[in-house]
Amino acid sequence: MKVTVVGAGAVGATCADNIARAALCEELVLLDIKEGLAEGKAQDMMQTAALLGFDTRITGSTNDYSKTAGSDVVVITSGLPRKPGMTREELIGTNAGIVKGVAENILKYSPNTIIIVISNPMDTMTYLALTATGLPKNRIIGMGGTLDSARFKYQLSQHLGCSPADLNAVVVGGHGDTTMIPLIRYATWNSAPVTKFLSEDQQKQIVADTMVGGATLTKLIGTSAWYAPGAAGAALVKSIVRDEKKLFTCCVSLDGEYGQKDICLGVPVVIGKNGWEKILDFGLNADEQALFNKSADAVRNMNDVLKT
Ligand code: NAI
Repeated sequence: MKVTVVGAGAVGATCADNIARAALCEELVLLDIKEGLAEGKAQDMMQTAALLGFDTRITGSTNDYSKTAGSDVVVITSGLPRKPGMTREELIGTNAGIVKGVAENILKYSPNTIIIVISNPMDTMTYLALTATGLPKNRIIGMGGTLDSARFKYQLSQHLGCSPADLNAVVVGGHGDTTMIPLIRYATWNSAPVTKFLSEDQQKQIVADTMVGGATLTKLIGTSAWYAPGAAGAALVKSIVRDEKKLFTCCVSLDGEYGQKDICLGVPVVIGKNGWEKILDFGLNADEQALFNKSADAVRNMNDVLKT
């Protein structure tokens, strides 16, 4: 197995580090446009192999896409992160050009790859990667809901006093502060609905804190987060390369599912060796469906910016 991570910044390097530590592939390429950055981080990571005991061979490349040839999976993290006070949507001007160029270069050397898009605004960048590459829709996966669901579990765990790992909870819709939809009605703690143990006020607080989870960290850190985003990217890579068929919320191309078409948006999907293999219909109630439609409208408006 060969995996490429494009963008050797905070998220890309963390994702690569998680992939290497879990020995998810034999070959891992880190690529960045900044001279020497990917080579340096690849060497640094490779020097942990003797300490951590993994066999993955990590190499770095400054924009030489021939090094990525034959990648089974490519994770795109290249692009600007947001600063405090910025929305993810404000990044579109710069990041659209970067993601389009990267996706086209990747395709030249890995025509059968599966692409995981992390760069923001992620829903629009996923749609862009789909249209720019023309790859089958199952091979384009946007990572946003996976992270937002992990953040949702964290917020729930703080109120329930349990481990986030004991919880099941999903966030669907767009990957934006106002477009994501934490589905608290479906969240469970060891099979029991969490709503049994939380007051209405607590539930509202948890949903609100989840939605601004990324912005809260950006304010604290000064730039956007990387540990959970990198781990979320690696979790998707793991489910693909090991054909785990695990259920994640990912941004995928919808063709009538959840009442939407010609858009990439976050829904529960099974991830395996073919990319996203199946969309699960959770049966949203009228209120949830209205939120989903509103989220789709916002993402569609952002996608329209690509046409201007
Ligand atoms: P960063 O600034 O640390 O790293 C970005 C890297 O991309 C830099 O090293 C830069 O040199 C590289 N780059 C820029 N243009 C390039 C090109 N044309 N080809 C190759 N490399 C290029 O940023 P960070 O924190 O790693 O974030 C990366 C992206 O991921 C941002 O757009 C951020 O908003 C997004 N993000 C998305 C999340 C999600 O859940 N989808 C979560 C966290 C971040």
